[in-house]
Amino acid sequence: MADPFLIEFSKIGSSMLGYISVVQNSELPFEIKRVYWTYFTPDSVVRGHHAHHDLEQIIFATSGKIVFTLEGLDNTVHEFTLDEPNVGLYIPKLFWRTIKFSHNAVLLCLASAEYTEDDYIRSYESFQQLKINHLV
Ligand code: TYD
Repeated sequence: MADPFLIEFSKIGSSMLGYISVVQNSELPFEIKRVYWTYFTPDSVVRGHHAHHDLEQIIFATSGKIVFTLEGLDNTVHEFTLDEPNVGLYIPKLFWRTIKFSHNAVLLCLASAEYTEDDYIRSYESFQQLKINHLV
């Protein structure tokens, strides 16, 4: 099963002009089917608390700082801090995530499928059960 990892995209420009970063399907581990973004999350809030059966994502902090804690079916825990707009976090399917935001953070997500609530695992107990099934 794949692990999450950071992908560094090129920065076109300079500190004098500012920068452009570009994502193209041909460079990604999946085809983009959906894009969403979140913003104005208070820094006292922890979001996430779910995993996905099939969804793969690449997530950017286009501004501010976002800290992801990802737990895999094999019990490994990965922590990633996103604070550079040209660096994306690839999250494979079946990782339980919690997410903390700085007050000015904007999260941009490129997703491998359109939204369906059926793809969510929202109960930590259900995720723990999947871990047990994974071992069998
Ligand atoms: P959720 O994925 O649970 O957000 P977070 O993990 O950041 O707290 O989504 C929050 C709500 O938004 C939930 O009711 C589902 C809805 N939603 C959509 O309708 N479409 C989407 O593409 C996404 C990502 C969420």
